[in-house]
Amino acid sequence: MEEMPKIKTGILTFDEFSGGLPLNAIYLITGGPGTGKTIFGCMYAYFGALKFNEKSMIITTLDSRDHIVRYMKTFGWDLEKLEQKGLLIMRDLSKIPAAEDFGSSILFNRLMEAVVEAEDDIDKVERIVLDSATSVISLYTDPIRARRDMIQLINLLRRTNATTLITNEVLSSVHQIEEYLVDGVIKLAIIPKSDDFIRVLQISKLRGSEHPMRQIQYKITENGIELSRPTL
Ligand SMILES: Nc1ncnc2c1ncn2[C@@H]1O[C@H](COP(=O)(O)OP(=O)(O)OP(=O)(O)O)[C@@H](O)[C@H]1O
Ligand SMILES: [Mg+2]
Repeated sequence: MEEMPKIKTGILTFDEFSGGLPLNAIYLITGGPGTGKTIFGCMYAYFGALKFNEKSMIITTLDSRDHIVRYMKTFGWDLEKLEQKGLLIMRDLSKIPAAEDFGSSILFNRLMEAVVEAEDDIDKVERIVLDSATSVISLYTDPIRARRDMIQLINLLRRTNATTLITNEVLSSVHQIEEYLVDGVIKLAIIPKSDDFIRVLQISKLRGSEHPMRQIQYKITENGIELSRPTL
């Protein structure tokens, strides 16, 4: 069986056991509040640029650019420096009004523009992170229109050279990008275990690659997301 070329996530143990994620594909990182979706996305962009020299774009729809820059500094990751080196583009869509524009949300149109910009960039953008899809989808009153726009977004992302991570909150199913539309789904959760809570990651879908079917425990430490070693 021929292995598909892969891209490293920047999360060490994940890359060790999986070799990374199949390239030129779209992945959802889903999870409840505080499960580590933003950190996962930022690690992917930051280490991709820092270690592999792969140009990254982070599109934020909820948190401002400045907030993310400050937040990631708490892990010692200097996003600003990578921006200055031209290895990272940050697109802050957090202040776009929640209004509609020609039947789509204005936010959606700005998002599409950012992806087109990534596609047109002379040095090609290899990694795109959209944090988060939920805040875009939740602006729609019509779920069919939301689905149509999300399909349009996925189709545009497929035309780029990039491998994309999209974060999704687990609110209600109407505010989600459907898992059928993407190439892989990584689920992050906080679950009870005896008197405590633990963090678990589950890969529920990965087109073109074998993956563990178990829950993999992880921690969020001063080094970001640290995964324990899974058994396949
Ligand atoms: N500097 C840090 N050191 C250690 N742990 C941290 C640090 N910063 C955040 N955390 C942990 O990470 C959690 C938040 O992670 P993150 O912001 O990625 O969550 P999220 O899934 O994006 O949440 P939301 O849906 O609310 O945006 C915090 O609740 C905390 O447990
Ligand atoms: Mg977040």
